Amino acid sequence: MAQSAGMGVPMRIADRVALITGASSGIGRATALRLADAGARLVLHGRDHQRLSELAERTGGCAVAGDLAEPDEVSRLVAEVERLVGGVDIVVNNAGVGWAGSFGEMAPADIERLVAVNLVAPMRLTRALLPAMCARRDGYVLFVTSIAGRLGVAGEAVYAATKAGLDGFAESLRLEVRGSRVRVGVFVPGVVQTEFFQRRGRPYERSSPRPLGVDRVADLLVETIAAGAAERYTPGWLRLPVAVRGVAPGLYRRLAARFG
Ligand SMILES: NC(=O)c1ccc[n+]([C@@H]2O[C@H](COP(=O)([O-])OP(=O)(O)OC[C@H]3O[C@@H](n4cnc5c(N)ncnc54)[C@H](OP(=O)(O)O)[C@@H]3O)[C@@H](O)[C@H]2O)c1
Repeated sequence: MAQSAGMGVPMRIADRVALITGASSGIGRATALRLADAGARLVLHGRDHQRLSELAERTGGCAVAGDLAEPDEVSRLVAEVERLVGGVDIVVNNAGVGWAGSFGEMAPADIERLVAVNLVAPMRLTRALLPAMCARRDGYVLFVTSIAGRLGVAGEAVYAATKAGLDGFAESLRLEVRGSRVRVGVFVPGVVQTEFFQRRGRPYERSSPRPLGVDRVADLLVETIAAGAAERYTPGWLRLPVAVRGVAPGLYRRLAARFG
């Protein structure tokens, strides 16, 4: 089954500047290594200064450390990007944070933190970088979303809402920039072996879907960019429950209530 859909104006990666948020760990770090292998010049963002510096040294990229939950961090990052490399050709909006548990027990500050990091920061970053891409008539803006945002998951209501928000944002933005040759894509992972689960405070305990290795996921993410694709599920079969929810929502909800 084809895993990517729409657009598909290929994006050259060699000699392009790629900004990756959440580059200090997991999917972002593995993606940075792949993009560097493909010849991209990297700007790496995250909070962990030491991890970022090590990765910058290994890839020949630049590290910018900061907290995307802080309202001024995106402007500071954009100013640093301008100072260090001038402009950006590829943006991988990957930084994200989870929270697992009953919504009734979620502290308001955690709601705000998830929305700030997962949704507001990518929108602000895109707002800052998109006009120059449109003027150059080239570029790729990718959002790492989640199957949770497509289907909803008990215990992850706010996380799922932030990812669904990114989906709606990306879909709308793609329509807005059509004709500009700026590509807008979403990368929709299922379960990936990273520190994400330990950080959100609850390990992944389901037997299915099985977690994917981060290197394989990064290969597919870079393939998605190179293809200029609008969407990619990883693994590809995840589009099936989404399709069932679309065409037979009653059936989908009965199955979801039974199998989670
Ligand atoms: N793992 C999965 O199963 C899975 C499934 C679907 C979607 N995703 C999405 O994939 C993306 C990457 O997650 P991952 O699995 O690679 O998890 P991860 O290993 O925990 O990486 C998360 C990255 O986001 C950065 N980050 C978190 N909060 C931040 C903040 N306040 N300011 C700046 N950076 C921040 C982290 O930076 P520091 O470590 O430096 O703080 C880290 O580099 C996320 O958007 C996540 O929602 C993951």
